[in-house]
Amino acid sequence: MPDQSNNFSRSRALREKAHHLIPGGAHTYAKGDDQFPELAPGFIARGSGSHVWDIDGNEFIEYGMGLRAVTLGHAHKAVLTAVARELSSGCNFTRPSPLEVECAETLLDMIPAADMAKFCKDGSAATSAALKIARAYTGRDHVAICAEHPFFSTYDWFMGTTPMNAGVPDAIRQLTLKFHYNDLSSVSALFSSHPGKIACLMLEPSRLEEPHDGFLDELKRLCHANGALLVFDETITGFRWHNGGGQTYYNVAPDLSCFGKALANGFSVSALAGKREYMRLGGIDHTDRARVFLLSTTHGAETHSLAAAIATMHVYQNEPVIEALDRQGRRLKLGLQEAVVRHGLQRYVQVVGKPCCQFFNALDRDGRPSQAFRTLLMQETIRKGILAPSLVVSYAHSDDDIARTVDAFDNAFSVYVRALSDGVEQHLVGRPTETVYRAFNSQV
Ligand SMILES: Cc1ncc(COP(=O)(O)O)c(C=O)c1O
Repeated sequence: MPDQSNNFSRSRALREKAHHLIPGGAHTYAKGDDQFPELAPGFIARGSGSHVWDIDGNEFIEYGMGLRAVTLGHAHKAVLTAVARELSSGCNFTRPSPLEVECAETLLDMIPAADMAKFCKDGSAATSAALKIARAYTGRDHVAICAEHPFFSTYDWFMGTTPMNAGVPDAIRQLTLKFHYNDLSSVSALFSSHPGKIACLMLEPSRLEEPHDGFLDELKRLCHANGALLVFDETITGFRWHNGGGQTYYNVAPDLSCFGKALANGFSVSALAGKREYMRLGGIDHTDRARVFLLSTTHGAETHSLAAAIATMHVYQNEPVIEALDRQGRRLKLGLQEAVVRHGLQRYVQVVGKPCCQFFNALDRDGRPSQAFRTLLMQETIRKGILAPSLVVSYAHSDDDIARTVDAFDNAFSVYVRALSDGVEQHLVGRPTETVYRAFNSQV
């Protein structure tokens, strides 16, 4: 496999301009320079299937793909055809497009627990809208989120709970509480310490841990017994765990659920879906309760994005996307685990997560999670044409892609072994990556 670490000159030049013009140099922190090794492509020019090309012309097999949004592969033909058809007919009118109805109907066919849906542009708006409905319906201000789930929204009610909470008023931070996954006693304790105050509980149906002992069912029962709504954030699990999301996979119907990411194969569409009893509060004809200003934005129903969502959902309905994600994820995990064993790295490198949504943990000599070793693995796999901040596969990842990825990691593991004995700084070019949620930037 060719070593292509030699040329990132265009990326390097554009990076300076980007940081001069854009805070953080990118419009999404997870894509930022501090998330990648110094020897990494800085800007991606185009993608096709599971491959991308950077602005220096280097080619990579990509994992994660648009922060897990592009599950069918870049520039998927059926999606592009649907988008192109709408582009030439205009994208935004003074009255709704019929696509709004068709897209809602298509989504609701796939999510049987929901009666109504409303679209918006990103997952954060959908989860925030779910909280708003829950608060309006219950007349309560507090909400509770799952402590083990790392991200629910860019809005203040969530960012206020992270170390990167500058600018979030303390009054807002106080309203978001936390409970633990698979720990019903933590949920009961919250309801006891805040009686009549919690509007809803929000969690991903699962992340690294599977639900045990009927956890999700019991969670729903506890919510309802305490007058709170159960909200599933399916931004990741939707269109990945099952065609009907985590709620269908685990057979637990939440009151409200939020979708985004894979819903439109990378085009900007997200959705709040839920029971009519709650969703109707965003309507224009109920008179028994106050009106809720629910997800109403200028670009919310941009026609080509809705066409992308409909086309994407049709692919899921007609092709074995979920099975392929699972199969390729398993193949990748098996290959990597065999390579880990070959290099004797079982104590240092772990592949975690569901096969359709995996990532790797890199540990240092003392068994502690290490950004430096994580960066080293990325650096060494990038040299071999693999761009893998995660190990999240798409429908476009072929057997050959997986085999090449395993080879690249196999090679990187040799360097890892050496770094464990010589010190990682002997092998890492530049600084390690950092976590997004940090209160201050490091001094350079
Ligand atoms: C579980 C989860 N919920 C919500 C969001 C927010 O979605 P968006 O970035 O589209 O606003 C994310 C984003 O990564 C997520 O992973």
